[in-house]
Amino acid sequence: MRDLSVYLYLFTFFSLAGWCLEVIYRSLFAGRLINPGFSKGPYLPLYGVAAVILTLCIDAMPGGTYPAALEFFAKALLYGLVTTGIELLTVLVFGRFLGRPLWDYSGEPLCIKGCVCLKYSIFWIVLAFGFEYLLLPAALTLRGVLAPAWTDAFCAAVCVVLAIDFLWQFSLSVKQRYAREDGGRQIDWLEFNHILRPLLDSPEVKRLADYKHHWNKNRLEHSLEVAWHGYSVCKRLGLDYAAAARAGLLHDLFFYDWLTEGPRLHGFRHPRISLANARTITSLSARERDIIRKHMWPLTVVPPRYPEAWIVCMADTYCGIKDYVVLSRKLNEG
Ligand SMILES: [Fe+2]
Ligand SMILES: [Fe+2]
Repeated sequence: MRDLSVYLYLFTFFSLAGWCLEVIYRSLFAGRLINPGFSKGPYLPLYGVAAVILTLCIDAMPGGTYPAALEFFAKALLYGLVTTGIELLTVLVFGRFLGRPLWDYSGEPLCIKGCVCLKYSIFWIVLAFGFEYLLLPAALTLRGVLAPAWTDAFCAAVCVVLAIDFLWQFSLSVKQRYAREDGGRQIDWLEFNHILRPLLDSPEVKRLADYKHHWNKNRLEHSLEVAWHGYSVCKRLGLDYAAAARAGLLHDLFFYDWLTEGPRLHGFRHPRISLANARTITSLSARERDIIRKHMWPLTVVPPRYPEAWIVCMADTYCGIKDYVVLSRKLNEG
């Protein structure tokens, strides 16, 4: 194990050197000057971290124990695993917090979800060997000729600036992500209300609140929940979300307690009863009619014709199961 100040130096040196490498590489390909990385300053801590971990690996494998070819392949494998692992971990952690990837290798052959790919993994292995035989000795030689106190002070100062810069950018990005998501949700909610407002004002829809539907919900609450899920999923898939919202709200427009009254075979018959009632309060498109009529599929035998009808049917099933899972938990707790 080397002295801690050596690792601090290697981290700083290779964070700065990695930034220079990426500036040259990316700017040459883009034909314009590019400042790579997440932070604003001239450093890429990912390279610094990789340099420290690779140095630990090199120190742990002094060599000379096994045949040279075997050691070479073992090292290549280890370097590939370490560098690709660092790359994968970085993109997954950042993707989780920021809601966007730091880079995207989609389009490269043999890539995993755009996070890592064979081409760059081979490049990192070559770079790791270059690091072991050229860059690390050169960096350590340079350190030997520099004044130790000044070098340590410089490295510590760079690391403090880097840490502040990184945390600042990270908090800004996380804030932007949540502001973006909150804004999107609020816009969705306003639009959902706007689509349903005329129906929600009708006495027939208001009456749904008088009927218990599932153990913890009246029929209006259940219908609104199904409408919201139908609307949200259809909107994200580029489908007719207004139809999903409207028909979702009207899919159980019947006026009896289905547990104690109403027609026999309620499960089979209530979609048609709901459709007939819905037609008395609004005109319905073919898609909306299909959603209401088929929402109990497979009980209704004929499968839904439109994707929106499949989605509302699944949303209704999901909401029903969710309500009864909550009920069974409550009963078990009680
Ligand atoms: Fe239903
Ligand atoms: Fe329902």
